[in-house]
This record gives sequence, structure tokens and C-alpha cells, in this order.
Amino acid sequence: MTTDQDRVLIFDTTLRDGEQSPGATMSHSEKLEIASLLDEMGVDIIEAGFPIASEGDFNAVAEIAKLAKSATICGLARARPKDIDRCWEAVKHANSPRIHTFIGTSPQHRAIPNLTMDEMAERIHETVTHARNLCDDVQWSPMDATRTEWDFLKRTVEIAIKAGATTINIPDTVGYTAPVESADLIRRLIAECDGGEDVIFATHCHNDLGMATANALAAVAGGARQIECTVNGLGERAGNTALEEVVMALKTRNDIMPWTTGIDSTRIMHISRRVSTVSGFVVQPNKAIVGKNAFAHESGIHQDGMLKSSDTFEIMRPEDIGLAGTSLPLGKHSGRAALRAKLKDLGFDMIDNQLNDLFVRFKALADRKKEVFDDDLIALVTDAAAAGTEDHLELKFLRVICGTEAPQSADIMLRVGDADKQATAQGDGPVDAAFNAVKALYPNDAVLQLYQVSAVTEGMDAQATVTVRIEEDGKITTGQSADTDTVVASVKAYVNALNRLIVRHEKLGSGGDMPEVSYKDMS
Ligand code: KIV
Ligand code: ZN
Repeated sequence: MTTDQDRVLIFDTTLRDGEQSPGATMSHSEKLEIASLLDEMGVDIIEAGFPIASEGDFNAVAEIAKLAKSATICGLARARPKDIDRCWEAVKHANSPRIHTFIGTSPQHRAIPNLTMDEMAERIHETVTHARNLCDDVQWSPMDATRTEWDFLKRTVEIAIKAGATTINIPDTVGYTAPVESADLIRRLIAECDGGEDVIFATHCHNDLGMATANALAAVAGGARQIECTVNGLGERAGNTALEEVVMALKTRNDIMPWTTGIDSTRIMHISRRVSTVSGFVVQPNKAIVGKNAFAHESGIHQDGMLKSSDTFEIMRPEDIGLAGTSLPLGKHSGRAALRAKLKDLGFDMIDNQLNDLFVRFKALADRKKEVFDDDLIALVTDAAAAGTEDHLELKFLRVICGTEAPQSADIMLRVGDADKQATAQGDGPVDAAFNAVKALYPNDAVLQLYQVSAVTEGMDAQATVTVRIEEDGKITTGQSADTDTVVASVKAYVNALNRLIVRHEKLGSGGDMPEVSYKDMS
């Protein structure tokens, strides 16, 4: 792939590095949906998964490869022929396929496969050559590049280029580098490596010191022409470079960073909400660009300034990221056409039976809530999407007794498989009682890791969004739900997390000869 000198390629790894974040597991259909949104918004390369990791990853990458219209579809592979073959089998269906192979080159990572420098150099030569024999577009990464000795890094990069790699990615795997160093490293690699001018250098940053966006942009100043990033900065630990931050930084400060991307920034808000919902990772309110408060100007002075001129405090316009201007809320007299139009404005194109189903839910909500705001509707749509038709568990009925007098108790009916089952349980508060009742109907050893409640809108009648993260046998899943009743939202979120856990166990159980592997498993 060639590029103009002022064009920066956006490589999105939400579905690979982002999804690898504990608890962020997405279902097959969710991955396909996110991939379509990334493709439509103009992402140049989508890293769709790690095909050798599991049967589920393989199938997702293969299907995304078939559905992508304009993006290059990339799969990750360790430096092993078997990984690379499996990766090729998945990506080969794409109009534009890419194999991304990597090996840890820093002293810390070299110790894991226990290879000498010479053995590692030989492995890089063999595996990049192997990948290049299968695919014209090969990306190679020296994992933990920013902690690799300069001489060895240069040597490995030159070997990969000579073996046919077309993109060289420089990962800051542990978020260790800083902007000046990030720019210098890329500049030096381009200038000093044999063949450095003939390939594209990419930057892949993690946010452990809060510098991922700054480091990525500095790398571009140093000559990198591909930024690797994730929506909402999703990723392990403190996450990866956030797509929305680099895109909007390049757009807003093009005067001092004269590089462009192919991203339609008006799609940012919609994909941010979808990734937040399907991953279960709530966006912090003060998150740059996509946080709830990013465009809210609450203080009196700010509001006064904003009324006089919006550029007093705003450096970007909300509509640039697809945030619709203030729009009138819907209410119980609003009809189907108004609902359809509003959903379209918010980025949701509904087919007729989806709209019918949503209209029933909307009416029920409008009966309980005088004004239904945009965020209420988004919560309603995402709640409907979260409850899959093939789910093993479904909440049918819930009544709780709570208050100052203990014991609090919950009476619950769940569909478990094909049968409706009922149980009553007590607990320390209504949520605990309700979760105990779910456990009585569907015994499990899942440990609650996170329980988080946030209000969807303001006001006493606001809906609550509840996020629940659970862990069983090292598998972590997250569930989310919204309702005007916090206990109902809590139980639905818990049930949602359990359904995802069931799918994960089933998927691994039927994985055949494909054990779940991690890209960190280098042995
Ligand atoms: O952070 C990292 O080093 C990675 C590589 C696999 C590219 O994600
Ligand atoms: Zn990474």
C-alpha cells in the first residue's frame, strides 16, 4: 500500500488489542457490526482478530474479511508458520488482505521463547518470508520495540524489510516511551535502516503513562504514516491510543500537524457508543472527544461565553463528531414516524420489525418517563440489541421487597433454556437478594468484579445504566442494561454477563484442536 506524504493511515485494532482487554469480549455478531461501522467510517486497515487464538476468532476474522467493502482486513499471527497459515486462511477472503506477524524483541520478551539474538533474527527472516509467500501485504512488529536495544531493533527491522514486510510497526507495548523519544525513534529507523524509505512505519502506543495519543502524533511527526488505535482507547490496562483523539487532533490542529486521515469524523460518536455498549467499558464522563462532558459547558462563565460565541470555549463543533445539536425530546404522544426519524438522526437504521419491537419498548418507557431524550433512546436500542434471541437466560419477572427493615428479598422468574423457573431469595439489599435468586435458578461460581450504576440523563425519573463484570475460571465477561428501575437494570445486566459467560465456555469447549492462546504466549 502506498500513501501520500501528508496522508496518515488509520489502523484500528479495537477487535484485536481492544477486545483482548479482560472483560471486553464481544460476541460474533457484535464484532461484525463494529467492523462494518469501522469500514463505513473510513478506517484504512481493520485488525479483525487473532485467528489462531480460537475457533471464534478465526470465524470472526474470516467473515469480516468477506463483508469489508473498502478497508484492508488484517489478522494477527505470532512468528510461527502454523499461526501465519491460519491467519492467511481467515484474511484471504478480503478484497485487500494483510498478515500481521510479530515477535517480542526486547530483553524482557526475548527471555520468554528463550532464543538467542541470532536465532530470533533467523526466525524473523523465515516467518516474514513465509507470510510474504502467501500475501503481498505483510506487517511486521518487534513487540516492545521501545525497550529493545537500538542495534538489535535496527537489525531485526532490516531483516523484516529484506524478507518482504511492507509495513513496519513499532509497538510501545508497555506504554513506556515519551513524545520526543517516539518521534526520534521513527525518524532514526527511517533514516538508518536499509530499505527504511521503502516501507510504511506504523506507531502502536499504549497509554500506561497517559501519553499514547501524544506519542502516536509525535511518531507521525517523525515520519510514521500509520497510527494504530482503538475506539474509546479500549485496551488492556490503561488502553491504547484512542482513534477519536488522533483523528480530531489532526483535524483541529492541522495548522501545526499537517496530515490528514480518511476518517468521516461525524461517525465517531455512534461507534464510540456502540463499542462502549458491546464491550461493557463505560466511557468516563471527562474522556476527551467522546465523554459525556466533552462538549458540556456547565459553569456560569462558560455558558455566558458560549451564548455570545461558541468558539469562546469550543475548539471543535459537536456536529463534527456526530453529536446532534439540542433536539426536542420525544414523549408518550410521539408516533412511529417520529421515533424512526429520531433513530436515524442518531445513526440507527432500523428494519420494520426491529422498529415495531422498539416502539413497544419506547411507549412503555414514555409511560414511566415524561420526556424521552436522545440518550434514553440510545440506551433503549442498545438494551434491545444486548438481549440476544438465542440467550440461555432471560428475565421474565422480578419483584423485590426492600427498605429499612431487613431482610430484603427478591422473587424472580427466569427463562433458563426452554423452561420458566421461579425462586425467592434474601440478601443484603435488593440487588444482592435479586442476584441470589438468579444464582438459585442458575447455579454458578462467577465472582462479581464490578458493579457500576450511572444515570442515562438527568432528573428524578432518569433511567439507570448498570454495568456488571463477572469472572469464572479465568474467563471475564461484562453485561450492561438500562431501565428506570435500578434493580431491574442490575438483574438484566447480571443475566447479560452470565449469557456471555455461557457462550465463552461453550466456544472454548467446542474449540476442537484450537486451544485458546494469547499473543503473549510466546513459547
Ligand atoms: O502492544 C503490542 O505490542 C501489540 C503487538 C502484538 C503489536 O499489540
Ligand atoms: Zn498492543
